[in-house]
Amino acid sequence: MSAEFPALPEALEAFGAHTAIVLGSGLNAFADELSVEATVPYDAIPGLPVSRVPGHAGAFALARLDGHPLLLARGRVHLYEGWRARDVTAGIRLFHRLGIHRVLLTNAAGTLNPAFHPGEWMMLNDHLNLTGDSPLRGGPHFIDLTAAYSPRLREVFRHAAGDLDRPLHEGVYASLPGPQYETPAEVRMLRTLGADAVGMSTVLETIQARALGMEVAAFSCLTNWGAGITGDTLSHGEVTETGRNAAGALIAILRRALPGLL
Ligand code: HPA
Repeated sequence: MSAEFPALPEALEAFGAHTAIVLGSGLNAFADELSVEATVPYDAIPGLPVSRVPGHAGAFALARLDGHPLLLARGRVHLYEGWRARDVTAGIRLFHRLGIHRVLLTNAAGTLNPAFHPGEWMMLNDHLNLTGDSPLRGGPHFIDLTAAYSPRLREVFRHAAGDLDRPLHEGVYASLPGPQYETPAEVRMLRTLGADAVGMSTVLETIQARALGMEVAAFSCLTNWGAGITGDTLSHGEVTETGRNAAGALIAILRRALPGLL
C-alpha cells in the first residue's frame, strides 16, 4: 500500500509490464494496433488526476506486442488545466509503483527548426524546462539530468528508424505551461535559446522518471510550424489532425525497436 495510490485495480498490478508508453495528442491509434487485454480508466484509480481535454481519452490499455506486456497511457493531464507539477507526474510515480523501469513519452509540438517539417517526428535529446515548476519541488532532490533522454534508447530508435528509412530528427524540446500557443517573439526567443520544438508537456514527466531511476525516451510529433514562422495561424484542430496522420510513422519505428527492448 502506498499513501499516493491506496488502491489499485488488480488487473493493473498483476500485468507485469516493464515498459510504459504515454500517448499524446492523436497517438491513441497505437493502442488499436496492438492486442489490448484490458482497459483501466484513470478515474478507476484513486489518487490519479483525470484529463478534461478533448482528444485525451484518459485510460490505461494493457497491451501486448509480440506477446510482451506493454502499458499504454492514453491521455495525460497538463499544467494548463490548472494541475501542478506533482499532479501531471502522478502517472509516472504510478508506473514506478507497478515495476515499470522504462518510459516512452510522446507529445505534439510546434517545430522551430527549418529542417524539421510538420508531419515529421523528432526524438528528444535534451529539453528546456520553461514551465517554472518541478515535480521535485519541496525536497532537496538534486538529480543529474546530463543524459535525461537515454543515449542507449536513442541509439536503438535511431537504428530502427534508419532500418525503415524513415526520418527521425533529434533535437531539443522546450516546454511552456500554455495553454495559449506562443507569440512570434516567443518563438524567436526559443530558437535563440537552442530549442528545436516547443510544446506543453513531457519535461516534468522526464524529471520525475529520472528521479525514480527510470530510463526515458521521448518523441515529438511536429504538428505545425512555430507561430510566426509562416503566415499561418495555429489551431488545436490542425495539431490533432496532423498528429493522427503522423502516428503511423512512429508506430512503425516503435514496432521495429521495441521487441529488442522488452
Ligand atoms: N506550441 C506549443 N505547443 C504545441 C504546439 C506549438 O506550436 N503545437 C503542438 N503543441
